[in-house]
Amino acid sequence: MRLLVVSDLHWAGPAEQARAGYESRAIPNPLQRALAAAWRRGFWLSDPLAHNHRLDRILALNPDPDLVVANGDYSVDSAFVGLSDDACCDSAERCLGALRAAYGSDRLLAVPGDHELGKLSLFGGVGGPRFESWRRVGSRLSLPDWWQRDIGHHRFLGVPSSLVALPAFESELLPGEAPAWRAERARVLQGIAGAVASTGPDRRIVLFCHDPTALPHLAALPEVRARLPQWEATIIGHLHSPAIARLARTLAGMPEIRGLGSTVRRYSAALNRARMWEAFRVRLCPSPTGAEALKDGGWLTAEWDPDRRDPIAWTRHRLPW
Ligand SMILES: [Fe+2]
Repeated sequence: MRLLVVSDLHWAGPAEQARAGYESRAIPNPLQRALAAAWRRGFWLSDPLAHNHRLDRILALNPDPDLVVANGDYSVDSAFVGLSDDACCDSAERCLGALRAAYGSDRLLAVPGDHELGKLSLFGGVGGPRFESWRRVGSRLSLPDWWQRDIGHHRFLGVPSSLVALPAFESELLPGEAPAWRAERARVLQGIAGAVASTGPDRRIVLFCHDPTALPHLAALPEVRARLPQWEATIIGHLHSPAIARLARTLAGMPEIRGLGSTVRRYSAALNRARMWEAFRVRLCPSPTGAEALKDGGWLTAEWDPDRRDPIAWTRHRLPW
């Protein structure tokens, strides 16, 4: 079996391309605007709208995998409300459309990322999760709420990380939508718990989960805790850069920081609980770009013989700029 994993493609369709400067427009405070621009230009990614061609490159370099997993974040989310924004939804449809055209729907498994559902802008002023965005994950992107696929001695599971980690985003929800979100989370968690519990004792579990913030919430399920010895790997995205993933491991266990806004609180709380990563055997699938300062992006592949019980061998590939 040859598996290709891509994550954080952040594809920009024409309607999102027309929104150059969207991030600074969402930050009214000039000092915060300058800080955000420095972070983008100095480290993260100068122009998030300028990288569509990298997906074409990955597709060309991986012509015939047996299976493809897309691990979330298909659009730029330039309105910060996820797929409920038509421009963002169009980008995500085009991005998944390119993957389906290249590999066929049967070979493609995909999970939603936080940007599909909506995410507060940097420095927190604009946007957030929208329930309509969650609806559109199914109705427009045709992605299941969660999925499982048994191959050889492995059970692959894909989960919607932001829904699983909903308690961490509770303060960002529209108050009127909170009950609907919670009900969806309970329903989806029940399905995931059932899938984990029904895994045969000699089967190994491989989880695809965009944002590692979800992992402590999964570990809160007794069904998951009982099966952690069978966990072979958890493939995350979200962090884009292997250097950021290494930093997060180093900072695992740091105290939660309150009083500096919800983004800082959420990130520090996630790091506080990042010790959990070891039990889940976390491995990052980078974004195609990685961090601009390091140019450390790319994709993952895995190869294994489904007739044997050997662990899956993962390889990270770098996509040169
Ligand atoms: Fe991302």
